[in-house]
This record gives sequence, C-alpha cells and structure tokens, in this order.
Amino acid sequence: MTDKKPIRILSGIQPSGALHVGNYFGMMEPAVALQAEGEALYFIADYHALTSLRDPEALRENSRRVALDFLACGLDPNRATLFRHSDVPQVTELAWILSTVAPMGLLERAHSYKDKLARGLPATVGLFSYPVLMAADILIYDSDVVPVGKDQKQHIEITRDLAVKMNETFGQQEQDGRIFKLPEARIKAATETVPGIDGQKMSKSYGNNIDIFGDEKEMRRRVMSIVTDSTPVEELKDPAKSTIFKLYSLVASKEEIAAMRERFLKGGTGYGDFKKQLFEKLWEYFAPMRKRREEILADKSYIDSVLKKGAARANEIADQVMKRVREAVGLR
Ligand code: ADP
Ligand code: TRP
Repeated sequence: MTDKKPIRILSGIQPSGALHVGNYFGMMEPAVALQAEGEALYFIADYHALTSLRDPEALRENSRRVALDFLACGLDPNRATLFRHSDVPQVTELAWILSTVAPMGLLERAHSYKDKLARGLPATVGLFSYPVLMAADILIYDSDVVPVGKDQKQHIEITRDLAVKMNETFGQQEQDGRIFKLPEARIKAATETVPGIDGQKMSKSYGNNIDIFGDEKEMRRRVMSIVTDSTPVEELKDPAKSTIFKLYSLVASKEEIAAMRERFLKGGTGYGDFKKQLFEKLWEYFAPMRKRREEILADKSYIDSVLKKGAARANEIADQVMKRVREAVGLR
C-alpha cells in the first residue's frame, strides 16, 4: 500500500426499489463525480436486499434495473467498475471472519436495525448482522472513500471499528501492522438528507419518495402533493423551512434559486405555483438521464456485458485481499 496508488472509491446500493431523488443526490451523483478521482467500484447489493426481499424474480429484475439506472445516471464502465454483490461470494466469507471479532454491543447500538424492526421487517440474524456484511463489502476492496448519504454514516464507523479489531487481533505479521486500511465516509453536506414530500428524509420505505425514472404524470402528482404549511398566498414564506425550496435548490441554477427565494420572501405567490416550477425543473434536470436510459435499454446485451467485466475486476481485487486475510487468521 504505497501512497502512489490511486485512491479506491466504493459504494453499494440495494436493489430494493426504484431510484428516487434522495438516492440520486445522496449517493449516485457523488459516486459518479468521484469516478474521476481514483479507481471506483460500485455494486448492486443483492445479498443485502435478501434481508427484506423474498421474491427471486423481483430481486433479479431490480438488480438489473439498478445497474441500468446507475449507467443512465453517468456511471462510465470504462472508468468505474459496476458489479453485482453476489458475483463476489468471497465477501460472505470475510463477513463471517469479521463476525468472529465483532462485539455484540457494537451491533446492538446500530440504529438501522432498530429502525427496520420498527418498520415491521422480521428480526432475523441477517438483518442484525447487516453492518458486518457491509464492513466486508468495503474492506474486501481496500477501499479508501465511501460516498453515501448520512443514514449510512454509522455503518462506516462500524466498518472502521471492525477493521481496527482485525488489525489489533491479527495484524502483527503484516508489514505495517495492519490487515485493513481504515475507510472514510464521503458525505456531501448539501445533500446528506434530501427531504421527501412530507418533509421527512426521503425514503422508499416511508412512501414519501419522488422517483427519478417514473412517468411524467406520476412525478407531477408527487411534486404537487408536497406537504406545505397554511401560509396564505399573499403572505411571505420562509424558504429555509420549505421542502419545495430545498428540492428546487438541488436542480435549479444559482440565479433561478435566488429568484425563487425572492418570491418566497416577497409574498404573493402560492405554494401551488412554486410546486409547478419545481416539477418543471426536476423533469428537465433528469431528461438527459432518461434519454441515456432509453439508449441503454435498446442494447439488450449491454448491461450483462458491463456486469460481467465488473465482476472480473472485483473478484481480482477481492481474491488478493482474501489471500492476505486467510493467511493472517490462519486459514492457510
Ligand atoms: P431508501 O431509504 O429509500 O431505502 P437506501 O437505503 O436504499 O434508500 O439508500 C441508498 C443510498 O442512497 C444510500 O447511500 C443512502 O444514504 C442514500 N440516500 C437514501 N435516501 C436519501 C436521502 N433522503 N438523502 C440523502 N441520501 C439518501
Ligand atoms: N447499506 C447501504 C444502503 O442500504 C448499501 C450498501 C451495502 C453499501 N454495502 C455497502 C453502501 C458498502 C456503501 C458501501 O444503502
């Protein structure tokens, strides 16, 4: 591990539903931007999706769709590696090894497990140990940077804790005393938590999402149902508290944002008009990606060929790291 090596960037997304504006600005857009900064590896977390999805056809179909969406959003397979989680099964072996040093208390403190139970997901061992598999996802590629939304921050902290545990327990024989390097979360402050139509964090599990590749009518309907307060048309409105304004700020130009802010502060414009403006901008913003998506869809074998190439590269790295890990713990 010399300093000259390009940094390695890694992220994953579960194939558990359609891509929404929160996923795009929280994770995809930063991930696509980072392709230029080092070796990027992005994967479709189908092993993870098994904790909530028990429909084999849907899992297969969603996985292909996430690949399609990622490519449509600008992932360039000539610069970045796109692959399916389950094409690198060694990751489950690493998850097992990590689980043998993972303190129960560390996982018991994880809020995503508690949140998922509260939402009615079954309390399985897989759901509980999800952060261990996620740590394996990251550590198996010697990742330096992990672009994610704020909700994943704790998972990256757990990953670092497990890397330290492994280094302390088994790192003595390594050149620099460590088996794993410590990855860092890359969370973009401006988009760390994109609000949904009810003002809470946008999430498909809260049903407050605006999907980016849905049809026009549906996107308009979702935007028009953004929850607002009851300030009358003529009164001035606070942009800082408005979901409409926050979403508009993600997709409009500086001048357009300033103009909307002024109209908020001046009064005389109703929320309905602001929503129409937001819808127009959102629809326009994602137009080139919709076009690219149609082009990719027209080439039947494209996605499979990208995923095949991605799997080969991901396996190459994972095999090297697993060799190191197996030796360090005494499995070889
Ligand atoms: P969901 O909450 O809809 O199930 P996921 O958990 O599949 O979304 O999230 C996939 C990626 O998108 C993660 O990196 C997550 O941090 C990011 N993300 C999801 N929702 C948001 C949001 N509202 N704001 C910012 N990032 C988000
Ligand atoms: N847990 C992430 C989510 O629900 C997906 C994920 C799995 C991930 N493994 C990862 C993200 C590794 C970044 C790095 O969105």
